[in-house]
Amino acid sequence: MNLLAKEDQLVKNAALHLEKSENKLVIDAYNELLKFYAEMIKQNEGNFDKLHRFFYKIGQVQEELGHRYQRMEGEGSLRQKEHFSEAVRAYLDALKMSQHCEGLSQARRAEYHLRLGALFYLHNLGNPEKHFKLAMELSQESVFYLVGLISVKKESSRMSEYILKEASAFSSDIHEDGSMETPIPYLKNVVETTDFIYALPAKGIYRLLRDKYGLEGGKILDVGTGPGPFALALAKNLPASFRMIAYDVSEKMLALARGRADGLRIKMDFSLGPIIDPGAPLGEKNALPFEDGSIDFIVSHGSMHHWGGGNSNPAAVAMMLKELHRILKPGGGMLIYDINPRGILTKLMVRFHLLRKLGGEYQDKAFAHSVEHSFKREEIVQLAKQCGFNEYQVYFAKPLFPIGLSFHVLEVKKKNERIG
Ligand SMILES: C[S@@+](CC[C@H](N)C(=O)[O-])C[C@H]1O[C@@H](n2cnc3c(N)ncnc32)[C@H](O)[C@@H]1O
Repeated sequence: MNLLAKEDQLVKNAALHLEKSENKLVIDAYNELLKFYAEMIKQNEGNFDKLHRFFYKIGQVQEELGHRYQRMEGEGSLRQKEHFSEAVRAYLDALKMSQHCEGLSQARRAEYHLRLGALFYLHNLGNPEKHFKLAMELSQESVFYLVGLISVKKESSRMSEYILKEASAFSSDIHEDGSMETPIPYLKNVVETTDFIYALPAKGIYRLLRDKYGLEGGKILDVGTGPGPFALALAKNLPASFRMIAYDVSEKMLALARGRADGLRIKMDFSLGPIIDPGAPLGEKNALPFEDGSIDFIVSHGSMHHWGGGNSNPAAVAMMLKELHRILKPGGGMLIYDINPRGILTKLMVRFHLLRKLGGEYQDKAFAHSVEHSFKREEIVQLAKQCGFNEYQVYFAKPLFPIGLSFHVLEVKKKNERIG
């Protein structure tokens, strides 16, 4: 078995136990992975590209182990601390190796610093400011770094003042009227300021459509499109043979999306559908306005946790997934990006009310509510399986930094019909 396949198998094994909440087996599986990476490090001495990747992976596995022990033994347990410290060590090593890697993006280096800063801050391990500041220097443009940075220290510290100044320069529109009572203009501003973030995964998704799903054209549906940032970013990166359908339950959101869809190479449609009512049967007022098997690929970003009408209502989400399964072509796939309630940035944002600082009370509360109603990896997998998707995988939105710090992605595939 080649090494990539071996790694894949070990990761899948861990995911399988995670899904069943078999804590002891999850821990064993992660330890196997750690052994594998340690061996890889030995075998790849001097190969900095590989070394930095393996240290990065070790950091992530150690973080996962920290979270496991946190769950089993409570915050502050010794083993939890040990694993978070090991994660810090691994990220520092990754960072060291990365100095020797030509062509490694600034964003990746910034990510190491942000991860280090967050670990230091959340687990009282060291000096978070230094790392947040370095992350910021490496990648000035990301509002997410600013969000991370704002969390550092008390509001009166010099560091916070500096960060807040930077943040408000970056998002001055948001603060213009001083109130955030109406989310729509806020969302519009944020979306426009953060369009570049949505553009990050777009090229990768096109490659996935082409290489894994064999799609050279076809209908792509964006579920819960909101003001359309994800649909638009994808539309800009797809050949003219594709067609994008931006779908939402809100007229206002669709109007915003429509207003931003000028000058596209591909055709884009806008479609309004029903808010799912789990009390009503499937296929009547809960039916999505698309024919069976009529969609080649489905994407969704930051919307799944709303499918239960704002609450994590698995019955409503399952109905939605069943509908999505119905309208998807056999062999077609779906990528759902949504808030990872265990994500490091998610936790920072909630714990330190970061959106209150950037966007006001409304956004802060809305985000905390969303996090509360977002699904954990194992819950998502469970739902996908129940709804007929035979192949599924949940991963962090890597390497799509910074989204990967607070989002995860579910990729599912609908079974191919048997031929003959
Ligand atoms: C937080 S916004 C995300 C918008 C956009 N995709 C983004 O990433 O910025 C969530 C969107 O999901 C929509 N939504 C909620 N329930 C839905 C459902 N059952 N079907 C489709 N869209 C839904 C909301 O109207 C809202 O526009």
